[in-house]
Amino acid sequence: MLITFEGIDGSGKSTQISLLKEELTKRGLRVEVFREPGGTDVSEMIRGMLLNPEIEIDPITELLLFSSARSQLVAEKVLPLLEEDAVVILDRFYDSTTAYQGYGRESVPIAQIQQINETATHGLEPDITFYLRLSPKVAAERTKSFEKDRMEQSGDTFFERVYQGFEKLSQTEARFEVIDAEKDINTIHSNILNAVTEKLGKNDTD
Ligand code: ADP
Ligand code: TYD
Repeated sequence: MLITFEGIDGSGKSTQISLLKEELTKRGLRVEVFREPGGTDVSEMIRGMLLNPEIEIDPITELLLFSSARSQLVAEKVLPLLEEDAVVILDRFYDSTTAYQGYGRESVPIAQIQQINETATHGLEPDITFYLRLSPKVAAERTKSFEKDRMEQSGDTFFERVYQGFEKLSQTEARFEVIDAEKDINTIHSNILNAVTEKLGKNDTD
């Protein structure tokens, strides 16, 4: 089973992923978590370039670098693990590319982004995607003391477009579970756990 988490920076993805992993592991499941970009040697090297605030990257190069990191992660880790029936949780997947490089950077038209995503994922789609919905204003408040990477230095209007991009995806993608990320951590965790439990039960009877 493939579970992905999406949302703008600071929406609480990492917090919720570690709680979900802990609970599913207690239930005896094999759970593997990867962050995007990252999760393999090649993808972590690419991550270093993408997030380095010292370098400038052309928007199309940026799109292709995120996609390259993803292709390697899917081929090297995600597909083999799914084959072994592990639960794979991804801290971001291709919806982030649609929201950030598509709606945020406006690098190429959305239809082209979708084609690149299909290539980079080797055609793999999540079983369920938790979209942690948080306004850019509240997210900025939560992360104001954190050091900003290259992507996070992109400015308020960029993050507003990214947010609107996720909102559009939540209206068109049936696999999106919209989570109110302003709620407290434990409430959000129970909502996510309920949805995953339901999905796991359904997959067992399929
Ligand atoms: P992300 O992985 O989406 O960037 P994090 O999980 O790192 O987000 O959370 C960003 C910050 O917000 C952290 O300081 C975290 O402790 C805090 N946080 C996470 N979830 C909540 C929540 N539901 N309410 C308030 N603060 C939260
Ligand atoms: P990271 O620190 O992992 O995210 P977060 O701040 O949410 O914990 O940084 C990854 C950054 O890269 C984040 O700003 C989102 C961005 N990103 C894209 O622009 N496109 C993508 O396809 C992915 C996976 C991430």
